[in-house]
Amino acid sequence: MSKIALEAREGEASLADARARSARLEVGFRHDPRGYRVLTGDRPTGPLHLGHYFGTLLNRVRLQNLGVETLVLVADYQTIIDRDSPSSLPRDVEELVADYLAVGIDPGRTTIFAQSQVPEIGHLMVPFLSLVSVPELARNPTVKEERAASGLPVASGLLFTYPVHQAADILFCHGNVVPVGEDQLPHLEITRVIARRFNQRYSPHEPFFPEPEALLSDAPRLLGTDGQKMSKSRNNAIAIGATEDQTARLIRAAKTDSGRHITYDPIGRPEVSNLVLLAALCLGREPRDVAEEIGGGGAATLKRVLTEAVNERLRPVRRLRSTLIQDRAGLHEVLMAGTETAKATAAETLKNVRRLMHTVY
Ligand code: TRP
Repeated sequence: MSKIALEAREGEASLADARARSARLEVGFRHDPRGYRVLTGDRPTGPLHLGHYFGTLLNRVRLQNLGVETLVLVADYQTIIDRDSPSSLPRDVEELVADYLAVGIDPGRTTIFAQSQVPEIGHLMVPFLSLVSVPELARNPTVKEERAASGLPVASGLLFTYPVHQAADILFCHGNVVPVGEDQLPHLEITRVIARRFNQRYSPHEPFFPEPEALLSDAPRLLGTDGQKMSKSRNNAIAIGATEDQTARLIRAAKTDSGRHITYDPIGRPEVSNLVLLAALCLGREPRDVAEEIGGGGAATLKRVLTEAVNERLRPVRRLRSTLIQDRAGLHEVLMAGTETAKATAAETLKNVRRLMHTVY
């Protein structure tokens, strides 16, 4: 077998493996929620949208409510991977915190914190960088994709070492579960490799870092209103915090096709089916049933049904969000309290890392 075919096979095997491990985690959460620490995060590059809502935010709230300890990292330093840090960052971060709280993330149970305010995370990158090779980083398909998406001709050192930074984000608190999309699996694999090598080198008798598991989402992938990948920068995503009018306008301009009868056929009619799927998710119904009901009503009815479904579903979230956003000091306080908690954890980890690495003088 050729080397490439072999690698493709290994890729499939590891995806199947990751899926199986992810499914086993769900059983574990129910039996022993206290045995897990979930670390997840977002880059504050714009408002969170319905893709985040159905893809990951609802899942975070579910885990929190099951009693699984959860930390949510605002990955502000990772915005400078492919852009300058804008002066709007403090406001962007507050908006992100408002999104979190509005969907039900409870700062009494979940730690929300800002990466840049926890210098120990950066510090951990020094030993971690020594544990991976340049070719290993160069091979990482997620870094390649992120570089292509950034539109930059070459990767900065920070983009190149993104997976190492992410390993520090996860391991500083001994996170052992990371909810991610399949596209992030190569990053997580590097975290696992770093944890394993650190343990082998510095703590061979008792593993110090866990090898975190990916928790893969089973939420169907949503496209933007133009049928392309949903993205904060393409203006094709319905923000959680958008007004009802903005929502209606975006849906009115959504791409459909020339078929008059509405059906659910994700392969043959991706744009129409995506709108049907979004309505179905908001309504808690099966996409096929929603499509059938609209049927001959065509695209106009589909858009009306979808607009109502989104606005109705998000009404309580948006109501809470608009109250929260008026209390900027309160949002700031939530972030600072979470950051204090994260800093205490990080300081403890760094102390132990120094001891294991014989750098205590
Ligand atoms: N890479 C993630 C993204 O682009 C954000 C992120 C940064 C993250 N650090 C993390 C996610 C740690 C999970 C765990 O969306």
